[in-house]
Amino acid sequence: MQRALLIVAIAASIAGIPACESGSNANQEIVLPEGDAIRGQEAFVALECTACHIIKDLELPSPSELGPVTITLGGKVSQLKSYGELVTSVINPSHRLARNPFKQPISNDGQSIMPIYGDIMTVTQLVDIVAFLESKYEGIERPRYNYPVYKY
Ligand code: HEC
Repeated sequence: MQRALLIVAIAASIAGIPACESGSNANQEIVLPEGDAIRGQEAFVALECTACHIIKDLELPSPSELGPVTITLGGKVSQLKSYGELVTSVINPSHRLARNPFKQPISNDGQSIMPIYGDIMTVTQLVDIVAFLESKYEGIERPRYNYPVYKY
């Protein structure tokens, strides 16, 4: 397999086609635009994520109604979240449920009680919220993307 890839890479470079550089985004399947953490904080409040979440060391306006759980996001985490995991936990909350150190009811029949925001949240809000959350966790490493330059 490795050798086959190498041969393809060599053949591609001989043919003048830029081969995928290893160590760049070769293993990244999805590349979202950069988010804006400040707008993300606004969206986090506007979408009332604050009904169920508090952000470590940050005071935010109260939601119109408190939700059934209070789960802290951000701060130091022993198991660091990757950027992809953070995106997944926002748009597909039941994919993998968070560990539940608070003994709060986080799921029903294996489905997260967190609302599904797919029909409500824009993609811009998603990337902004993730940029905001990312800035609140200590030690999350975002993979570096090397955007290829296409020459036509
Ligand atoms: C009705 C309550 C509720 C609301 C509102 C809510 N969440 Fe959640 N959220 C949860 C619960 C419960 C969990 C833990 C279970 C899980 O992983 O889905 C969770 C987990 C998360 C996690 C993963 C935490 C971890 O440590 O893995 C993130 C990130 C998150 N929510 C972001 C958001 C964002 C952003 C919003 C608003 C757009 C939001 N949540 C709104 C209930 C809520």
